Amino acid sequence: MLVDNATVLSDAPPGKRAAAEAALSRIEEGAPLGIGSGSTVDVLVALIERQPGLVTGAVAASSKTEQRLQAAGIEVLDLNMTGTLELYIDGADEVDPGLNLIKGGGAALTREKIIAAASRRFVCIADDSKRVEQLGDFPLPIEVIPMARSYVARQIVLMGADPEYREGVVTDNGNLILDCHEFSIDDPKALEKRLNAIAGLVTCGLFAARGADELILGRPDGKAETILPG
Ligand code: A5P
Repeated sequence: MLVDNATVLSDAPPGKRAAAEAALSRIEEGAPLGIGSGSTVDVLVALIERQPGLVTGAVAASSKTEQRLQAAGIEVLDLNMTGTLELYIDGADEVDPGLNLIKGGGAALTREKIIAAASRRFVCIADDSKRVEQLGDFPLPIEVIPMARSYVARQIVLMGADPEYREGVVTDNGNLILDCHEFSIDDPKALEKRLNAIAGLVTCGLFAARGADELILGRPDGKAETILPG
């Protein structure tokens, strides 16, 4: 069951709400944009609903976001019809000073990566618990084709990490998720490239080749800070 937007807002932690509120000013009224997935994005959609006309159509990174947009009266757009988007707004599981990200905690990483790639600007919204000096405490999610699950897991072990099958989860694309522990991510771009070369691996949750252009970090005191790639 979909939680209503009033409840989403009343239950939102101050950091997530502060980040989502600050992101409203980045949206050009009436222009189609991409909207990611996760609890911070849910707060953003709830805030957008309170400003009729601000967003009339958006490309969604997950079926859950599609439902939330529809409930807010916003048309869900097909990325094949929109062309390049000016703006993509999404959360993250970890963010480093270069605005490289780990994403995929909600299993929506493939569509998230596609929309990020198809957008001119990627604004990441997160509470300050997501900021880290080096990525990797959060297990790195990877989406795999079902028949490749064991093969990909063995390749991950050969790379020195420890893959864990996310039981009971099937992505919006019909695939599976492996959460990879113990990766040493001192070069996010290089690791993303190596992972992308594994047959059967659809998407890895490292967003480094295309990281965020701007981070809006919400703090527990309800204030938001803007951070550009360092
Ligand atoms: C979804 O697959 C993730 O990439 C989310 O963007 C990420 O988990 C952020 O989620 P929260 O906004 O719930 O923290």
